[in-house]
Amino acid sequence: TWTTGNIVEEQVAAIRAQVGDKRAICGLSGGVDSAVAAALVQKAIGSQLTCVYVDHGLMRKGETEQVEKDFVAATGVQLKVVDAQERFLAALAGVSDPETKRKIIGREFIRVFEQAQAEIIAEAEGGPEVAFLVQGTLYPDVVESGGGTGTANIKSHHNVGGLPDDIEFQLVEPLRQLFKDEVRMVGQELGLPDEIVHRQPFPGPGLGIRIVGEVTKERLDLLREADAIAREELTAAGLDREIWQCPVVLLADVRSVGVQGDGRTYGHPIVLRPVSSEDAMTADWTRMPYEVLARISTRITNEVKDVNRVVLDCTSKPPGTIEWE
Ligand code: XMP
Repeated sequence: TWTTGNIVEEQVAAIRAQVGDKRAICGLSGGVDSAVAAALVQKAIGSQLTCVYVDHGLMRKGETEQVEKDFVAATGVQLKVVDAQERFLAALAGVSDPETKRKIIGREFIRVFEQAQAEIIAEAEGGPEVAFLVQGTLYPDVVESGGGTGTANIKSHHNVGGLPDDIEFQLVEPLRQLFKDEVRMVGQELGLPDEIVHRQPFPGPGLGIRIVGEVTKERLDLLREADAIAREELTAAGLDREIWQCPVVLLADVRSVGVQGDGRTYGHPIVLRPVSSEDAMTADWTRMPYEVLARISTRITNEVKDVNRVVLDCTSKPPGTIEWE
């Protein structure tokens, strides 16, 4: 019979059989899939696994700490954190076009991740070969991509001496038979923190695509504060299940006149984009309580410097996408 405990036991045995005494690498994104996949592999092969977390500086408040502290505490995993914030900011300087931002973030991410991979392989020199790459592929991903392949060709960096140009990894995909809700149950069974297990969807490019305009350190800090306030109030109001996700967007290129304290201000608007959805392909804007909206608006305009207006995005998908960029 089907239980979450069985899935864990079965997968642990299968991972041990697949990996043997070799070593594996897993990239952590802060999301539920990679976290549960890593926790399963960690349970199976312990110190033969090294996880990599690229801190691109585009995460929300507390999310990097969740990975660095809570995930490590819950799993005991060996974690390599790469602080790449400066690098991402430099690469994004002067860029406002959404697609260009996405491409830059994706490109930098792969470069930093491959560099970390190469370092792990170099450090393992003389020991068991690093031959496996762990991925949090779910059943719907397998179906969508028509079956999947089982290997990944990763181009390594040429500036790390002594490595072959192409390292062929075999994939370990312990979630291939599971749906999202089952993944969450497995994560719970493995003792992962609730904040990770019940995390709402969050885009890979992070807050970089929630600033309309150029991404700068100051704007990221400002948006992080506004987002933290919105999330805190939505959670306090018990709306985390009803709302699929609520992007908080900074219109950095827009200013409007306001009055705060005893003076005129000329600040930026923050957009709240609460949506209800089944699969993010279509979505409706969430008719959430006015009192909660009022609380979020009051707090953001009081507590976040340079924000003097909060607006609600009441557009469905289609025609609007969930994210603004
Ligand atoms: P849109 O904006 O296309 O978003 O309606 C649909 C869902 O996908 C998420 N999203 C992303 N997730 N990388 C991701 O991992 C991305 O580049 C990305 N862009 C959008 C979005 O948050 C929503 O859940």
